[in-house]
Amino acid sequence: MSRTVLITGATGTVSGALMDALSDVDVDVRALVRDKAKAQDIESRGVQVRVADLGTPESLPGAFEGVNDLWLLNANSPRAPENSINAVWAARHAGVQRVVRMSAVGAAHDAPTRSGRLHALADHQLESSGLRWTILRPHFFMQNLLDYADTIAEHGAFYLNAGEGRLGMVDVRDVAEIAAKILTDEPDHHHAKVYTPTGPEAISFTQVAAQLHEAIGNNVSYVAVPDDAARQAMLDAGLSEWLVGMLVEYGQAYSTGWSDYTTNDVQELLERQPRRFADFARDHAAAFTSKR
Ligand SMILES: NC(=O)c1ccc[n+]([C@@H]2O[C@H](COP(=O)([O-])OP(=O)(O)OC[C@H]3O[C@@H](n4cnc5c(N)ncnc54)[C@H](OP(=O)(O)O)[C@@H]3O)[C@@H](O)[C@H]2O)c1
Repeated sequence: MSRTVLITGATGTVSGALMDALSDVDVDVRALVRDKAKAQDIESRGVQVRVADLGTPESLPGAFEGVNDLWLLNANSPRAPENSINAVWAARHAGVQRVVRMSAVGAAHDAPTRSGRLHALADHQLESSGLRWTILRPHFFMQNLLDYADTIAEHGAFYLNAGEGRLGMVDVRDVAEIAAKILTDEPDHHHAKVYTPTGPEAISFTQVAAQLHEAIGNNVSYVAVPDDAARQAMLDAGLSEWLVGMLVEYGQAYSTGWSDYTTNDVQELLERQPRRFADFARDHAAAFTSKR
């Protein structure tokens, strides 16, 4: 009988790529969504959908019933650890056999970002839950650049407070393929392991701009801006103060060299080289090009 994998964060970036990666595998994929109206694309892939909210424990048992494997992803928020703990509680009660949790690069109690510190809390709670667990702490997603695609298409520039720091940024498609592998290997195989997927090289945003230029043929500049300017621009764009604070903290950390490293985890788990930023830029070139 096929195993049932429950996907949280199903309307988001990573879990969408994970459902792609699981589409050819003999598992029953079930998606947890908060709003059924957002699940049409998911249902059209043949994925079962359950409506529940990780912030509301009483909504969870029906979604978790009969699940063998849980992909646990929490959106960045001050409530992320609470949502993670609620999911682990529901998994225990439903007899889930394995939890694969999405954490973040550098998660630790003394991490320089609030996201890293909150992930450390949730990671440690899962580690002591008695369930089989695996934790992924991927580096900065190349796909984050898509948040600046319209600005790049219109103005040929993007602005961050990351200085000339270098990042071992990773393509979400590689993270998703790793998650799919872990979720479909023997349940004990990756128990109690923490992986940090990265790309093949640590690059600066100046190098990112040059590679986008190469891929789309138009000039692209990266403008390193001070923390306060980055903060104000994101507040003006309507992001919440909490999220803006988190993003400014990441930029500060990147600018100090905190993120200047890569690992061999993608190569070791997928037995191939990770995708390069140049691959990402080529595959997403249309998004960075003006639609006018
Ligand atoms: N961006 C990076 O560079 C990076 C790097 C390493 C790790 N990470 C980690 O990756 C995670 C974010 O992944 P992502 O970019 O794929 O996320 P995303 O695209 O922002 O999607 C977040 C998902 O979580 C769902 N969600 C939010 N609150 C929920 C709740 N209370 N109950 C159930 N579902 C809820 C959202 O559903 P709705 O559609 O209902 O809102 C959405 O499906 C974070 O934990 C972050 O720390 C990010």
